[in-house]
Amino acid sequence: MALVSARDMLQKARREGYAVGQFNINNLEWCKAILNAAEEQRSPLILGVSEGAMKYMEGAKTVIGMVEGMLEHMGITVPVALHLDHGSYEAALHVLEAGFTSVMYDGSHEPIEVNVAQTKKVVAIARETGASVEGEVGSIGGEEDGVEGKGDIADPEECRRLAKTGIDMLAAGIGNIHGTYPKGWQGLDMAVLSEIGKTTDDMPLVLHGGTGIPDDMVKEAIGLGVSKINVNTECQIVFAKATRAYIEAGKDLQGKGFDPRKLLHPGTWAITDVVKEKMALFGSVGKA
Ligand code: 13P
Repeated sequence: MALVSARDMLQKARREGYAVGQFNINNLEWCKAILNAAEEQRSPLILGVSEGAMKYMEGAKTVIGMVEGMLEHMGITVPVALHLDHGSYEAALHVLEAGFTSVMYDGSHEPIEVNVAQTKKVVAIARETGASVEGEVGSIGGEEDGVEGKGDIADPEECRRLAKTGIDMLAAGIGNIHGTYPKGWQGLDMAVLSEIGKTTDDMPLVLHGGTGIPDDMVKEAIGLGVSKINVNTECQIVFAKATRAYIEAGKDLQGKGFDPRKLLHPGTWAITDVVKEKMALFGSVGKA
């Protein structure tokens, strides 16, 4: 199946009360692991690519070639969107031209007037290819690939304004942060989330920082309109842990255990397992 925009899968998720996972990719193993999980779970999927990861993988064309090649070779039948995560205005335009089917323009660090104006421009350009667009209000705390957010709680009125730009999904800061959550974290601000849900009609809402949010909070957020949940760090942690276990057990020193196809195998399957668990938690299993 060819890449699709995230629009239809997220509207369906919003209507039916579940969330689609955005899982970020870093390389070929990540991509393969996540696609395997989605196909096995019959779940729609959003593959996220940060600007840093895109640079690491040698550009948008390389990423698209790899993902499209895998969709065909692996016989993937579930809907998959290829999405730019936290893009600048220039990066959003660049990947749209290259063929991404979804983009996040992150203007959350700009004054709301600038954010609204720039988001509108990205929406107009995305319409030409049918790609979906995510906007953001109130930055997500923590650091991701050099993009630092203070972790503001979004203003529901600003969310209402951004939702009217024609975007397909809205990310709003509600106390969530990228990376693992510190001890004493206050949790998600459900009152603000509920308010945002009311001011943005039935716009699919996006929860960034999916790593480490307790399951009951995830479910409550989905009940309040969250239809897309981003996960990155958790896949990195399980990959590193499984790879460490392989090396610490001395397996790279046995026979041809140093072969990257063997060395990276446990980490790859650890990612598949985590993604399958998340899809079950988010309620997207069988929704493809
Ligand atoms: P985590 O790395 O905390 O899972 O967050 C991912 C994310 O929000 C990507 O945009």
